[in-house]
Amino acid sequence: MRRKKIDVIPAESGQKALKLLQESAFDMVITDMRMPGITGMDVLAKAKEINSNIIVVIITAFGSIENTVEAMRAGAFNYLLKPFSADAIEAVIEKAREHISLVEENNYLRHQVSTGGSRTARKVIAESPQMKQILAEATQVAKSNASIFITGESGTGKEVIARTIHYNSLRANRPFIK
Ligand SMILES: Nc1ncnc2c1ncn2[C@@H]1O[C@H](COP(=O)(O)OP(=O)(O)OP(=O)(O)O)[C@@H](O)[C@H]1O
Ligand SMILES: [Mg+2]
Repeated sequence: MRRKKIDVIPAESGQKALKLLQESAFDMVITDMRMPGITGMDVLAKAKEINSNIIVVIITAFGSIENTVEAMRAGAFNYLLKPFSADAIEAVIEKAREHISLVEENNYLRHQVSTGGSRTARKVIAESPQMKQILAEATQVAKSNASIFITGESGTGKEVIARTIHYNSLRANRPFIK
């Protein structure tokens, strides 16, 4: 999954998966249904408890349709029927990615609507030559993909500069996460 820029962490049991879920943030869980110890249904329920937005895909064997239906009702995003190909798993991940970006975009737009949009509301005021220089640089670097380190005392406008960069960047229509 390297070439798709997906970090995959395997877990040898449901318990191990839940431990990982508690320790760090994941976008997606792909779990078998019948496993020694806790089942895929348990993993699904606990994963959703930890993060209600998490995407859970259930791996199911032919003849376990009832379990699959139950899992979908319990909030599973999709299922993979055994045996499945690498293409099938990639297709499910792709669907999940689309879903995640739609949810993000929706949250972003909802926020924009509720705040009346912040593009104009947060206009930077600059009188000093130093601040004008910073603004010019911000607008210039915004067009690049470089990482930008903004430093300064509290209240000096780091966030307004970050926003300025974002709104002048090629990612302006994607969410700005302060
Ligand atoms: N040059 C500026 N023009 C307009 N508003 C500004 C400017 N600088 C700061 N502000 C306003 O001052 C307040 C603090 O700015 P901001 O949140 O960007 O500071 P900060 O550097 O991120 O602070 P902190 O380190 O506390 O997070 C905000 O309400 C911001 O809109
Ligand atoms: Mg700040």
